[in-house]
Amino acid sequence: MSAGPVVALHDIVTRFGANLVHDGLTLEIQAGEIVALVGGSGSGKTTLLRHIIGLTRPAGGTVRLFGEGLRDGTVHERIARQRRFGVLFQQGALFSALTVGENIAFPLKELGVATDAELRDLVALKLAMVEMEPEHASLMPAELSGGMVKRAALARALALEPELLLLDEPTAGLDPDRSAAFVRLIRSLHHELGLTVVLVTHDVDTLAALATRIAVLAERRIVSFGTLEETLAQDHPFIQRFFLGEHGRNALARHGGNY
Ligand SMILES: Nc1ncnc2c1ncn2[C@@H]1O[C@H](COP(=O)(O)OP(=O)(O)O)[C@@H](O)[C@H]1O
Ligand SMILES: [Mg+2]
Repeated sequence: MSAGPVVALHDIVTRFGANLVHDGLTLEIQAGEIVALVGGSGSGKTTLLRHIIGLTRPAGGTVRLFGEGLRDGTVHERIARQRRFGVLFQQGALFSALTVGENIAFPLKELGVATDAELRDLVALKLAMVEMEPEHASLMPAELSGGMVKRAALARALALEPELLLLDEPTAGLDPDRSAAFVRLIRSLHHELGLTVVLVTHDVDTLAALATRIAVLAERRIVSFGTLEETLAQDHPFIQRFFLGEHGRNALARHGGNY
């Protein structure tokens, strides 16, 4: 792996018609970090994740992933780069017409990397990684609880053994217990697999438990990028509202900080 940042966004400008979403946004994420990306609703967090993986292209600036531009290299090299990240988007986490097992096998099959028997073993292994049983492979997504859907979607994101995992509001809609369990799971996967993680979240509990650094998206750019302590020391109005409202203060108190 190259020594530079895993994700490097420089001077990004994003426009949808008259809506200027990012304007001169710069962010560099190093290997092994868990970066929490926070910002108001509609501030452009999901769009930024889409830029990182090349689903959309900014109007200006540069995106580099694993030290390479998104359009660098041959088709084979670009496909190889796609295998190095896994994504858990907020919507459309699983294909509803496929079983859990078929969902997890999907990225493996698409790349033709395994026989049917190997696929079954790999699916069972990925399910075990997210603390699900092999029997869950035959269930349909509609038969799973919200927390299980997130786990299964995470198993699919991990199918190709990515170095980088992008999670868009992974605990949104989960109750506090399931949300805490999901946080523990991400932490242990990060530890075991040495992943770099970028996590969009509104949940101060999740962020305080996981993030090595917090990137704050406001005013169309990253206004603060640092540890929780460094972030709390900023007197930006969004930061004050986000962390020091009642919910934020309670969450920080639960994590034992003196903030
Ligand atoms: N494909 C699109 N076409 C037009 N506008 C879009 C599109 N995607 C996002 N937007 C707009 O860009 C802004 C940022 O959206 P998004 O990245 O989804 O925000 P967040 O994830 O922070 O809530 C919003 O104003 C949204 O309406
Ligand atoms: Mg979003």
